[in-house]
Amino acid sequence: MKQDITISYDVFDRLEDLSPEDQKLLEAATKAAKDAYAPYSKFHVGAAVLTDNGNIIVGNNQENLAYPSGLCAERVAVFSTSALYPNQKIMAIAITAFSEQFVTDKPVSPCGACRQVLIEYEIRDNQPIRCILRGSTGQIFVFKSIHDLLPLQGNFLG
Ligand code: THU
Repeated sequence: MKQDITISYDVFDRLEDLSPEDQKLLEAATKAAKDAYAPYSKFHVGAAVLTDNGNIIVGNNQENLAYPSGLCAERVAVFSTSALYPNQKIMAIAITAFSEQFVTDKPVSPCGACRQVLIEYEIRDNQPIRCILRGSTGQIFVFKSIHDLLPLQGNFLG
């Protein structure tokens, strides 16, 4: 027997094509990327989380001379959200990045560890987390759930 996993996502060419809610979230992530502390990689990532109460919590990558001590933007944002608003569900996350050294014209996507962290909140809250991805320019990808970025983990969400 053989099975396939199919993942669908929406592709938008322009920021204005997104819903006003997603535009706002991506703009917050873009602003957050500018405040990243990324002196080593010079790769500035911004993330913005939307909760079911309408709060927007941003994060950006925080690097450290002891490299593994740093943290990705996505985890800064979701951990802050859970710390600040433990009873609010995470509805969506927007992620973007720019580099001081090259053009990021393709959507950036969360690393494996961040996907693992994100899906746990999706499972905890029984609420799919919409994931809006963009580089500094170019197309925007919107996934309806972290499950689509990490198939077979948290499978029961469907
Ligand atoms: N980084 C993120 O913040 N999120 C990602 O999805 C990929 C990588 C950060 C970690 C590090 O500070 C820099 O980008 C280069 O890898």
